Amino acid sequence: MAWPEQLERILLTSRQLKDKVDDLAAQISRDYDGKSPVLLGILNGSIVFMADLMRALALDLTVDFIEVSSYEDATTHSGTVHVLKDCSHDIQGRHILIVEDIVDTGLTLRHILQILQDRRPASLRVCCLLDKPSRRQTDISVDYIGFEIPDEFVVGYGLDYAEKYRNLPYVGVLKKDAYRKSCGVNSRGA
Ligand code: IMP
Ligand code: MG
Repeated sequence: MAWPEQLERILLTSRQLKDKVDDLAAQISRDYDGKSPVLLGILNGSIVFMADLMRALALDLTVDFIEVSSYEDATTHSGTVHVLKDCSHDIQGRHILIVEDIVDTGLTLRHILQILQDRRPASLRVCCLLDKPSRRQTDISVDYIGFEIPDEFVVGYGLDYAEKYRNLPYVGVLKKDAYRKSCGVNSRGA
């Protein structure tokens, strides 16, 4: 694939991503030994990570997805998120592992955790490929983290910029001018 013009550099290669997915899968397989968890991916960003992670897990698992809207006010993150597509499982009494691409402010995840906790799952944990701890606005606990990354806008391996670049096999950093030009430094889309 030609080098995307808006990309500054590669942050994580496909080899690094694969090794990390294998490490996470080994840990999760140990922790959930004997259980049948529901892997609950947050659409759309989690799809590539989910596809790789689920195939590396030695567990009797099922897969489901939930889609939520972005914040109503993207610059202040004051709006609540809305469920656009709910999961299909009845999660009461089930072990739920949320699979997410990236935790940034943490506000999306906080809302999703609240919604799911009300449905009384047996357990509720979170597995995130990427974490930007410097931007956190709420103290949510993330149980499994792939990589801590700096405060830069990243794309690829499921993550998008204006719906582009999800299919890149690596994680790359978007050039700052590309990002600022069209969407303002604080806006984020799921
Ligand atoms: P939050 O700020 O933690 O609520 O993150 C919300 C969503 O914004 C994440 O699930 C991602 O889909 C998206 N997001 C946050 N940072 C980035 C990024 O650097 N690249 C692409 N998407 C991002
Ligand atoms: Mg996401």
